[in-house]
Amino acid sequence: MLLPQEIIRRKRDGAALAAADIQALVAGIADGRVSEAQMGAFAMAVCCRGMDTAEAVALTLAMRDSGERLRWDGAQQLPGPVVDKHSTGGVGDTVSLMLGPMLAACGCFVPMISGRGLGHTGGTLDKLESIPGYRVQPSLAQLQRVVREVGVAIVGAGERLAPADRRLYAVRDVTATVESMPLITASILAKKLAAGLQALVLDVKFGSGAFMQEPAAASALAQSLVQVGQDAGLPTRALLTDMDQPLAPAAGNALELSLTLDYLSGRDRPARLHELVMALGGSLLLQAGQVSHWSEAEGRLQRALDSGQAAERFARMVAGLGGPADLLERSQRYLAAAPVVKAVPVPPEARAAGLSRVASIDTRALGIVVVQLGGGRRRSEDRIDPAVGLSALAPVGAVLERGTPVALVHAANPASADAAVAAVQAAYRWTDPAAAWAKRPVVAGMIEPRVVP
Ligand code: URA
Repeated sequence: MLLPQEIIRRKRDGAALAAADIQALVAGIADGRVSEAQMGAFAMAVCCRGMDTAEAVALTLAMRDSGERLRWDGAQQLPGPVVDKHSTGGVGDTVSLMLGPMLAACGCFVPMISGRGLGHTGGTLDKLESIPGYRVQPSLAQLQRVVREVGVAIVGAGERLAPADRRLYAVRDVTATVESMPLITASILAKKLAAGLQALVLDVKFGSGAFMQEPAAASALAQSLVQVGQDAGLPTRALLTDMDQPLAPAAGNALELSLTLDYLSGRDRPARLHELVMALGGSLLLQAGQVSHWSEAEGRLQRALDSGQAAERFARMVAGLGGPADLLERSQRYLAAAPVVKAVPVPPEARAAGLSRVASIDTRALGIVVVQLGGGRRRSEDRIDPAVGLSALAPVGAVLERGTPVALVHAANPASADAAVAAVQAAYRWTDPAAAWAKRPVVAGMIEPRVVP
């Protein structure tokens, strides 16, 4: 085996690495033989030189094999397909919380390995931690039991699934090497493969609230994820979706959880969000062979919601992972509420100029407002305040009558509320209500693997 520094040297000089060398390096990352300095140098070499598909597949498989793998055969055999969806991250993206239980109600099994908020984006695990008692890091035995009995468990990767990713990611985070296509690809897919999936759909976002803001960059990432996933043995598809505005009208942990409960119980289903939930769910049901037509997929997913079965699966998942058994019935008892709630008015300059239609939103800036309110982390050790955030966010195209706020700010104190009001106002652009305006679809395209003749 080559020394780590020799492997790094080869990549630094632009050579393609052999699978055996990648495996050796990743094994060293997992067991501590490769130092943080070497990980940083390797990540930078990959960032600058890239990797071809074969190298990215080898990296993904080596990271998958750096820890335990969930197995769903033998005694663990399940009477339905094991599937998952993953998003590249956005603002007000509650899809996982809704789709996991819906898929379970459609006969799928969903061991959903999720992450925490990163930068300006929200994290599914942080949202779930606004439920008192919910364990985002259960033992693998408990995770498998909840998946088997309920059909869905949304949890973190913990120490045991793909531990090499955990170490490498921490180094990437502080060495300006997060934005590397093969490193992102291997990082996301290694955890999904370790969960033993049979089908995966990816929600790859572009727009002002996405990490890859340009559609072309998002499309390249989607192609990389789909091809590497497929070549690593996991049938994978990706939808390219618009993150030029928050997906849901709320951003913040308990607020998004509350919105999820409203969605599942049928009290409120925001149209854009519902469209994306159905598109991702439909894609997975088709991929997994649960249905043969799109209309059948749509019917199954809608029935899972309307019959209350998806809500029931969510409630059982929460109880199975340590949360309260009556969260759906008594959510207000459990979900934290902020002491200060303040309306964000349309800026007086816009009103005076007769501009009352939302022209565009700097979605990243809204994500940062939530972090600044205390709903995200400035440093990795920060504690999150689950109660804070934004709700009733006006979407692009909305015409706000006099007195209708742009959003509601939920804050821990009046000073942070005032700062957030100003920042939300600055994130919105306004136009004449009579100006032409075309609604943009939330799903812009689908990426499938290349067919090799
Ligand atoms: N999410 C991950 O899990 N890994 C990355 O590298 C980026 C996003």
